[in-house]
Amino acid sequence: MSAVVHAHDLVRTYGSGETEVHAVAGVSLELHPAELVVLRGPSGSGKTTLLNLLGGLDRPTSGTVRVGDVELTTAGEGALSTLRQRDVGFVFQSFALLPVLSAAENVEVPLRILRTPARERGERVAELLDLVGLSAHRNQRPYELSGGQQQRVGIARALAANPRVLIADEPTGQLDSATAEQMMTLIAGIVRARGVAAIVSTHDPKIAEHADRVLRMRAGRLE
Ligand SMILES: Nc1ncnc2c1ncn2[C@@H]1O[C@H](COP(=O)(O)OP(=O)(O)O)[C@@H](O)[C@H]1O
Ligand SMILES: [Mg+2]
Repeated sequence: MSAVVHAHDLVRTYGSGETEVHAVAGVSLELHPAELVVLRGPSGSGKTTLLNLLGGLDRPTSGTVRVGDVELTTAGEGALSTLRQRDVGFVFQSFALLPVLSAAENVEVPLRILRTPARERGERVAELLDLVGLSAHRNQRPYELSGGQQQRVGIARALAANPRVLIADEPTGQLDSATAEQMMTLIAGIVRARGVAAIVSTHDPKIAEHADRVLRMRAGRLE
């Protein structure tokens, strides 16, 4: 199948002059539907910076990124925002759930932003909570859930808009190793069942065992 994400010679430089940091220093890659790519690399190697570029959260200093038909480098803010809402789902190490909302309400947020009708929202949220095994916890707030359960909510929320691309930045970084294993099994199953193109960063070698393809990053480049 043809790629959903095409990145060509991406560079992201922070600062200038003597304090210049080449966080991403010339990366090209493609992500394909139903493929789980694991991005390995030590802390500071540029994983987060690269993932933010791929998902349109940040713009490169040079190089190009295309998601579907949208060239992110030249897209306006409106087009980028639409892309982030519809085509790309993000999962964060710190879960990034809203503390005053229940599990179900957190999953519903992206659908409200997209103005999905109420009935359809309810059905989608129920389906997503079922997918991640949290139907029985739908009314609990994040602080009433374990770390693993919170990350399941994060995954359900990332999938709410039915994105083509799933980007997860160290999603297991705050979880114990058994829970991390379960999380990767869940993500791998979702990637294959739903045909989403996924990239997951980690510095944990065990996590890479779930990958269809492993990319290694060092000092801003892929090895
Ligand atoms: N907003 C920023 N401003 C300046 N330097 C940054 C910024 N974000 C990241 N960096 C630097 O870029 C490099 C790569 O960081 P990062 O992408 O977070 O790596 P990783 O996710 O692999 O730990 C590091 O040297 C980091 O200090
Ligand atoms: Mg990081």
